Amino acid sequence: MPYEHVILERDDGIAIITINRPKVLNALRTDVLRDLREALMECENDDAVKVVIITGAGDRAFVAGADIGEMSELDPIKAKAFSEFGNSVFLYIEKMSKPVIAAINGYALGGGCELLMACDIVIASEKAKIGQPEVKLGIPPGFGGTQRMARLLGKMKAKELIFTGDMIDAQEALRIGLVNKVVPSEKLMEEAKNLARTIASRGQIAVRMAKQLINEGIDVDLETGLSLEAKGFAICFSTEDQKEGMKAFLEKREAKFTGK
Ligand code: COA
Repeated sequence: MPYEHVILERDDGIAIITINRPKVLNALRTDVLRDLREALMECENDDAVKVVIITGAGDRAFVAGADIGEMSELDPIKAKAFSEFGNSVFLYIEKMSKPVIAAINGYALGGGCELLMACDIVIASEKAKIGQPEVKLGIPPGFGGTQRMARLLGKMKAKELIFTGDMIDAQEALRIGLVNKVVPSEKLMEEAKNLARTIASRGQIAVRMAKQLINEGIDVDLETGLSLEAKGFAICFSTEDQKEGMKAFLEKREAKFTGK
């Protein structure tokens, strides 16, 4: 279905969602978040889609944050609802079964940085600039930044980035583990699609199980996590993909996974 603020394209098992408000550097207004959520749900419910890529329209920004015009009008009650809505959309990315790759084509600030941290894998253009500048506006991050960044980078690095509001470049983001890979900007989408194709060629039940196990296990103690993993591992032995994957290996041929 067509959306006003995002473009959803599908090509051979890969869906690309482009946040499309380039004039305001793809800032996230409530209606943009709503479109993003609907597009993600459409991808989750479409059996033909195996991997989702999220990027931003234009050559300047992935997402330059939540929309400051909209936020400037909020009172505390509405601000809480805005934060909770943003959180629910980003949580959906973590909870959806399919892998989501962020392709960072420029500024990823505030809500843009929070969006990339909710994605599974992040590829950044060498021109990317990433940060959580909210304290410069007199607010802390509100779409999960204080929580995800501390979990992802550790408390001290998260505090440095969030307390200063300073932006870092793509190489620094790579060094601290905020992005997986940095590529020349003209190669960004090609690299993201190549990665998506590789993932799409694997056993999809196994990929989805692994996503769920990593995301559910990261916040529990090790023994609980290992117990979750043993159950997920066991479930996959009931699939045709497991039989095909192992048979293909033993027959020295490429597996033909069906996602069953
Ligand atoms: N919300 C609403 N509008 C935004 C926006 C945001 N988060 N980020 C950028 N825009 C708009 C600007 O207001 C401007 O609109 P205009 O042309 O109607 O004036 C347009 O996008 C281009 O941005 P501009 O600031 O002119 O570009 P720049 O190259 O000088 O600076 C940034 C780029 C990203 C450094 C700067 O736009 C910025 O600091 N944005 C806000 C980042 C932020 O604080 N995000 C966190 C929000 S919680």
